[in-house]
Amino acid sequence: MKQRKILVTGGAGFIGSNFVHTILEENQDVTVTVVDKLTYAGNLKNLDKWKGDPRFEFIKLDITDKSEVFSKLQNIEVNEIAHFAAESHVDRSILGPEEFVKTNLMGSFYMLELARKLYSQNGLRVFLHVSTDEVFGSLGEDGAFTEKTPYAPNSPYSASKAGSDHLVRAYFHTYGLPVITTNCSNNYGPFHFPEKLIPLMILNCLQGKPLPVYGTGENIRDWLFVKDHCLAIDLVMRDGKFGETYNIGTRNEKNNLDIVHKICELMDEKNPKGAPHKKLIQFVKDRPGHDFRYAIDPSKIENELGWKPKYKFEEAIEQTVDWFLENRSWWEEILSGEYNKYYESQYKELKS
Ligand code: NAD
Ligand code: DAU
Repeated sequence: MKQRKILVTGGAGFIGSNFVHTILEENQDVTVTVVDKLTYAGNLKNLDKWKGDPRFEFIKLDITDKSEVFSKLQNIEVNEIAHFAAESHVDRSILGPEEFVKTNLMGSFYMLELARKLYSQNGLRVFLHVSTDEVFGSLGEDGAFTEKTPYAPNSPYSASKAGSDHLVRAYFHTYGLPVITTNCSNNYGPFHFPEKLIPLMILNCLQGKPLPVYGTGENIRDWLFVKDHCLAIDLVMRDGKFGETYNIGTRNEKNNLDIVHKICELMDEKNPKGAPHKKLIQFVKDRPGHDFRYAIDPSKIENELGWKPKYKFEEAIEQTVDWFLENRSWWEEILSGEYNKYYESQYKELKS
């Protein structure tokens, strides 16, 4: 394989920044260019480690601005694209869907148009589109999503991601662009933005704040450690088949209440002055259209590409809690800014 020169969109966000760490730590002979708008969820601190490294470059850019995308990137020397940039939070998509349609659909469209140009100029090797299991809708008690499960998105977020998946597919069939899509389950790990369930619970425990559990807490998610996810994406970029999709997950279903209990247990051990943290649990209004259950069947990536996760849930969730305990200034800065306003008004609404 020629030297890999990877363009990473959304590389200052949670999974994108973990991907940059994985790629640069695991390979010497690779360069990474991150493009990111730095929305509320993007944070250059996530990439501090690579500042000044000749293998790393950052370009501030909004993927919904077509002229900016083309003026800044049409002559860029890259041979792979990993497309992570998106609006990612379901609750925010319910409050304001427009940004989701713009970024996830139109932004992805412009990235595909750029990829088409780079492909015809220099022969781009692969365009990897990072998508979600939420495009498949909600499961009942049994079964798991496979690559053949029909699309049935239920939130503005998942509908906008589903739209982008269809565009990616169309660019393979129509233009022969070497695309691959991955659909993964809920990630957790370092740099996870505090609005999401796991970091929210860790940080509220640390601050002695209520732990808001939607509805009955029985909804099920299939938790994937972000470092396993990033290794899987790298594998798909190297060995995946163009025009195909791969589901990524680790058969790790848990209901929300079990996750919250696990975090409380770990916090009792690591933050004994707040124990028992369970007393902070508060059942609040349910999310509208709340999908009951997600579960990924990862047989295809396991059987065809030989993928195996490296981490077990018990060690990875503890590593995650430790990361938040050790990186106080990272989250304190976020909690003292704009995000706090969003959280307080969201929490007020959930209690009403
Ligand atoms: P995130 O919200 O933490 O990060 C998104 C990043 O995209 C941020 O850095 C943000 O600044 C950037 N961005 C947003 N709009 C942009 C724009 N218009 N132009 C350029 N950059 C922009 O999200 P995440 O959790 O890291 O998710 C990354 C990808 O993975 C998304 O495509 C998401 O749909 C998908 N995904 C996430 C999960 C999960 O559990 N977090 C699971 C499945 C799939
Ligand atoms: O399945 C993959 C998806 O996982 C990704 O595509 C999304 O980008 C990502 O945000 C995530 O979506 P979820 O909606 O599943 O994640 P979230 O962390 O928001 O919620 C997880 C579960 O916890 C969900 O059932 C709602 C519930 N929840 C969430 C929050 C924030 C609570 O009970 N209380 C909360 O305060």
